[in-house]
Amino acid sequence: MQSKDPLAHWQSTYAAKGEDEVSWFQDNPEPSLALIEEIATPSSAVIDIGAGASRLADALLQRGFSDLTVLDLSSSALAAAKARIGDSDDHITWIVADVTTWEPTRTYDVWHDRAAFHFLITEPDRKAYLARLERALKPRGHAIIATFALDGPERCSGLPVMRYDADSLARTLGAAFLSVNTRRHDHVTPWGTSQAFQFGVFRYEP
Ligand SMILES: C[S@@+](CC[C@H](N)C(=O)[O-])C[C@H]1O[C@@H](n2cnc3c(N)ncnc32)[C@H](O)[C@@H]1O
Repeated sequence: MQSKDPLAHWQSTYAAKGEDEVSWFQDNPEPSLALIEEIATPSSAVIDIGAGASRLADALLQRGFSDLTVLDLSSSALAAAKARIGDSDDHITWIVADVTTWEPTRTYDVWHDRAAFHFLITEPDRKAYLARLERALKPRGHAIIATFALDGPERCSGLPVMRYDADSLARTLGAAFLSVNTRRHDHVTPWGTSQAFQFGVFRYEP
């Protein structure tokens, strides 16, 4: 686990703060949307890892995507997203799980993770994450991973993070993940500060 009690941390964070009171809030989930649309079609199965209460699922639904899975450690985060989207939407599967211990039961065309992987600051946690990624992603499917960049903040939500550039992210994922796109992105928090993100798009070539 990435800190002493991450579940308690995330549950209390989402219980205490409104959607746009957290640094990672985005009204418009870019560049994730643009990157997904470059490598997927509306029939693609997409999973958002550590999705929190992100509006990415809403935006993909609006674009006709019909096989979405939203996974997060925090049931409070998913409750907020469900309250907004409606939990009867049969195009979305909601999963409350720790991605490092989750047992995937199917495969996906796209694995998206914005600002969850970077909380895994130990080698065993990263290995456990990558094992799930390799089980859950279809061969030639794509992983989109976004972390704080090397010049980004050292902490996120008060927790320490690992920061990456394009090369170190590719090295961490390993040889089975071919880098097909990289992009830096300056995220502007709801209070106007800037956070440097590194996005990587990888094709899984097992
Ligand atoms: C900084 S927030 C980003 C949320 C969302 N991806 C976004 O961009 O708006 C990090 C999210 O990762 C989730 N998270 C952290 N560690 C996790 C883990 N081990 N398994 C699943 N989710 C995790 C947290 O609950 C939180 O919702």
